[in-house]
Amino acid sequence: MRQAVLRPHQSLAELERGEPTNAFAVGALSGQELVAVGFVAPDDRSAGSWRVRGMATLPQARGQGAATAVLDALLGHAQAQNAQLVWCNARVPALSLYGRAGFVAGSERFELPRIGPHVVMEWRAQRRQRRDIVRTSGGELDLHGDDRDLSGF
Ligand SMILES: CC(C)(COP(=O)(O)OP(=O)(O)OC[C@H]1O[C@@H](n2cnc3c(N)ncnc32)[C@H](O)[C@@H]1OP(=O)(O)O)[C@@H](O)C(=O)NCCC(=O)NCCS
Repeated sequence: MRQAVLRPHQSLAELERGEPTNAFAVGALSGQELVAVGFVAPDDRSAGSWRVRGMATLPQARGQGAATAVLDALLGHAQAQNAQLVWCNARVPALSLYGRAGFVAGSERFELPRIGPHVVMEWRAQRRQRRDIVRTSGGELDLHGDDRDLSGF
């Protein structure tokens, strides 16, 4: 499906050469039929960095939330592995898919030969360990970590 939808100019062997072996892949089924796919894998951009690739939905199954569900599962997996950054080279027509999932643009538009215009899209973990200073009833200072949402900071 990824070859047919994303890279018809490449053979399966060429596709395979560009893909990590430690990827987590997700497929969405409509009845018994596989209609959408995608995968996510750690990459070496930075510590805690993961990359989403290969998002594709069969043309006849688009606009029904299949890719949204696949992306949600990929993000869930990466988060469970403590991902701090999840990124992808997003095709411009697919930008809204990533935007709805909380990704934001991380680059200007750029052109990939034979594929078209792209933007780097990035999702960042918003929950961070934070150390707070709390005055206890005994008047002493106590340090403790918590896991609060710092998205508003
Ligand atoms: C991009 C792509 C993967 C999206 O797949 P999809 O399964 O159609 O995606 P979704 O259905 O989750 O979302 C697409 C639209 O359907 C709408 N939608 C989502 N759930 C829906 C539902 N339950 N009912 C009706 N519409 C729905 C969304 O609003 C969305 O519209 P928007 O993106 O304009 O906001 C698909 O178009 C594709 O394979 N394109 C070619 C390859 C490609 O560009 N891949 C991405 C590479 S980065």
